[in-house]
Amino acid sequence: MTSPTRLLFVCLGNICRSPSGENVMRHLLKEENLTEQFVLDSAGTASWHTGKSPDSRMTAAARARGIEMTGRARQVKPEDFAEFDYIFAMDRSNYEDLLEVKDRCDHPGAQLLLFCELCEEHEEEEVPDPYYGGPAGFEKVLDLLADGCGAFLRRWREKDMP
Ligand code: 4NP
Repeated sequence: MTSPTRLLFVCLGNICRSPSGENVMRHLLKEENLTEQFVLDSAGTASWHTGKSPDSRMTAAARARGIEMTGRARQVKPEDFAEFDYIFAMDRSNYEDLLEVKDRCDHPGAQLLLFCELCEEHEEEEVPDPYYGGPAGFEKVLDLLADGCGAFLRRWREKDMP
């Protein structure tokens, strides 16, 4: 058996967007019987929410789509660039912060992508931070994540990896 593909989703706080990315992908993997082929995690560029469960508004929005939210927040670390194959940044600011984290990793192997590069049905270039906005922001996060995660899995199946 080939080794699993390791995916890390990263946002600012690791309580809204990135845990949703991880759990949207986990949901798709379960549906497609691919759970064993992947290792998933998420992290934040900031440490403010370390140890916390995902945001209750985000959890409710995900649950309404049949997606369970699991995980506890942690801060991204340099070794993540050695331990994962792909690191998905939710927005440009996360991407820029991650470049600095990567610089502190001795043997970075992970490919860093701006998540929306994966999307096929949306024009947005970033997954917008929903934290200070209303319910529509949480729905937008889930729409973008479903699009990009679905597209990534199709490409993975076809060995047409970004
Ligand atoms: P996330 O959202 O980066 O998608 O987890 C945020 C969560 C918390 C804060 C900002 C964004 N905050 O300022 O505490």
